[in-house]
Amino acid sequence: RIPLLIDTDPGVDDALALLMAFADPRHQVVGLTIAAGNVGLRHTVANALKLCEVCAVDVPVFAGADAPLVHPARDAAYVHGRDGFGDTGYAPAARQAEAEHAALAILRLSHQYAGRLLLVALGPLTNLALALKLDPSLPQRVARCVVMGAAVTAHGNITPAAEFNIAFDPEAAHVVFTSFSRIELVDWEAVLAHGVPHVAVERWLAVDSPRARFYAAISAHTRAWSRAGRGEHWHAADALAMARALQPQGVLESVTRPLAVEVAGLHTRGATVVDWNRQTGLPDNVDILLRYQQARFEAMLESALRG
Ligand code: BDR
Ligand code: CA
Repeated sequence: RIPLLIDTDPGVDDALALLMAFADPRHQVVGLTIAAGNVGLRHTVANALKLCEVCAVDVPVFAGADAPLVHPARDAAYVHGRDGFGDTGYAPAARQAEAEHAALAILRLSHQYAGRLLLVALGPLTNLALALKLDPSLPQRVARCVVMGAAVTAHGNITPAAEFNIAFDPEAAHVVFTSFSRIELVDWEAVLAHGVPHVAVERWLAVDSPRARFYAAISAHTRAWSRAGRGEHWHAADALAMARALQPQGVLESVTRPLAVEVAGLHTRGATVVDWNRQTGLPDNVDILLRYQQARFEAMLESALRG
């Protein structure tokens, strides 16, 4: 099985992506490294541990960065609930996080699975940036790196120009995008083009399994927020990134270009500037998803929720 390491800030759509990964027979999740992002680290770690418990999976969970590298950031509690999991008041998991820091775990696992590791980043890129600063040779041991983040045509979701994961920690994103030679990117515009009908999600969630019941509860707040603000389709960003990671054959169209992260900017901090016309001479570093097989994506979601 392909070793899969997920860096994440759960988060309701992160949780859906994790369910997809746990359900996939061809991949083995070898670790969850956790950062602050959607909400504070205390909650994102607790949420990861709880999801593992509900799914009866024994994957080690490593706590990492509790803040961005340089500037303070605002969270996304208004989307995910104050605890990041819809404020259901769930009983905490029995298990604790490992003692090892997430950045160190990323490096250790990259050696253990050198040349085979699939790395999927679903949150701010702080843990990955820390790992890269400790050991810049990390990318040489990673087979594929899939990132959910960026707004390649500057239709941001947290500011007019920037997507949340990049805007939360632009300096970290800069480190990551200048370190990996090819990142498989799933950006916010791709997510907008791959909304999933709320009625379908509700049908899948009606299944009587522990994970479907848990997921229905923790996602209720986010789904209601989405429906009220964005209409009949849900934009589960991290789930689309996980679909690309697990089933890359579902990619119908993508485009390779240089991408740079704006770390300054009065209005554009955290924007991701794609050199569409190749004017900079910088190397191509991202393969941007444009179109994914929607039926394949939805089938993966359904089987992940059925469990
Ligand atoms: C990203 O931001 C977070 O709120 C989601 O979990 C996703 O990773 C979408 O912009
Ligand atoms: Ca996320």
